[in-house]
Amino acid sequence: MSLQPHHTGSFEHPDDPGEPTTGDPRLSVTALEGQILAALVAGRMVLEIGTGLGVSTAAMAATAKHVATYDIDAWVHDTIWPDLPDNVVGVKSLDDVGRAFGAVFIDGDHSAEAVDRDLGVAIEHSDVGSVIIAHDTASLVVREGLAASSGWHWVDTTHGLGVLWV
Ligand SMILES: C[S@@+](CC[C@H](N)C(=O)[O-])C[C@H]1O[C@@H](n2cnc3c(N)ncnc32)[C@H](O)[C@@H]1O
Repeated sequence: MSLQPHHTGSFEHPDDPGEPTTGDPRLSVTALEGQILAALVAGRMVLEIGTGLGVSTAAMAATAKHVATYDIDAWVHDTIWPDLPDNVVGVKSLDDVGRAFGAVFIDGDHSAEAVDRDLGVAIEHSDVGSVIIAHDTASLVVREGLAASSGWHWVDTTHGLGVLWV
């Protein structure tokens, strides 16, 4: 994977055509955010919404039982998915995944409407004792999208993490 460091501590990809909705370059989670994710999902079956550059995917796969990662962009399917660890499967439709995941990580489209929709998907695919984690919660727009659920714990990382126990 030819990732390059970004000044925020995230990574970027030199050939990234940009996010499908905004055209902005994809930025990964930071190393610390990856470590927190790995600790939270240890031993769990994970659903990830938004593979991106696969940095969060690989971090979670290091401790999780299994990761199903969903992304809408063919560039991600063709460029990122082939290099992911063996306990990761890429899914092109959420209809292809099971229902009860032990953890769901939301880092897809960052509009409030999309985050709200992804939170609904996360709840639908969770069970009692599951953990839902959202990235980029330093963004007020992302926080607006998460407002349908109360009980979030905010982790003050570079981009912000939200943690919700179901
Ligand atoms: C910021 S990147 C994720 C970065 C990733 N967490 C990492 O550490 O490398 C966001 C990804 O969400 C994907 N995406 C955008 N809209 C989506 C949607 N509606 N459903 C799923 N993924 C989406 C984009 O194609 C992009 O790859």
